[in-house]
Amino acid sequence: MGPNEIGKLKDFDNRVIYITGGSSGIGLATARLLAAKGGHIVLLARDESKLAAARSEVEAVKRSPHQRIASLSVDVTDPLKLRSKMEEAVARFGPPDILIAGAGIVSNDLFENISLDAFDRVIKTNLYGVRNVIAALLPSIKTRGGRIAIIASMAGLVGMYGYTAYSTSKFALVGLAECLRSELKPHGIPVTLICPPEVTTPMVAEEDRTISPESKAVKMMAGRLTAQYTARAIVRAIQKRRFLVVPGKMARLVFLGHRLTSGLTTRLTSDWMIRRVLKKNMP
Ligand SMILES: NC(=O)c1ccc[n+]([C@@H]2O[C@H](COP(=O)([O-])OP(=O)(O)OC[C@H]3O[C@@H](n4cnc5c(N)ncnc54)[C@H](OP(=O)(O)O)[C@@H]3O)[C@@H](O)[C@H]2O)c1
Repeated sequence: MGPNEIGKLKDFDNRVIYITGGSSGIGLATARLLAAKGGHIVLLARDESKLAAARSEVEAVKRSPHQRIASLSVDVTDPLKLRSKMEEAVARFGPPDILIAGAGIVSNDLFENISLDAFDRVIKTNLYGVRNVIAALLPSIKTRGGRIAIIASMAGLVGMYGYTAYSTSKFALVGLAECLRSELKPHGIPVTLICPPEVTTPMVAEEDRTISPESKAVKMMAGRLTAQYTARAIVRAIQKRRFLVVPGKMARLVFLGHRLTSGLTTRLTSDWMIRRVLKKNMP
């Protein structure tokens, strides 16, 4: 166990928290919540103007004037630049007590319409992006102790119509998180894996413009959450050192049925829903 191991985490006072994807949606809601609980926050994403706006939002809710709210423009798909930016971040803000790997992009289309480049972009961001940031920060986390949370998705537990690229990336993340949990356990570094259903964020607003009715119907089986609700679930999971967390009652029910029946319930329900949508849309 590292010297900075947090034990039972009751408070986030003076904890340094790095959040990839912290400029928007779930990452930003989590940053706001943790700032309100006393943490020093480092927001990581690409777009400088979104980062600046997010930083002001987080500044506005921090608990004490001593808290540092910082942001750094990084692209998680570029391992070399990311590594040097993380060295810079560690020197400027201190190593993370908590790393939340949440940067991600969505893809909703039929497999045959997804080009190799588009498929690759999703995997490079959602899977390698998480791998790259953990690889860059793990040495300092191992020296001082800390926690790692990975935001995967319900689509990483249940495969769905229209999500071949996205689900592939998120299923792989689940595997990464399970192995990492086991490897880091002896070092006293808890790993948390969050698998939310649909969450109202800019990502989903954008997706809603083009999502197929089949995908939307199937996705809705697990319900929809706000970013604030999801952020609370993430923070609770980190505090309590939970490994796998599926936020939302409906999502948990769907997941439980899926697990207990080896996927039969979700396959039957989603096939039935897709038949209904197709029938309704028939000329
Ligand atoms: N919303 C949902 O329904 C839902 C459900 C389950 C899981 N999730 C997962 O939750 C995470 C957050 O999603 P969200 O809905 O909050 O999305 P969002 O509002 O679109 O936020 C995505 C964040 O990731 C950053 N990002 C994207 N690509 C990046 C890259 N290459 N390098 C660095 N940062 C990058 C974005 O900033 P820049 O674009 O400026 O880089 C932004 O800060 C994702 O991993 C997503 O898959 C979302």
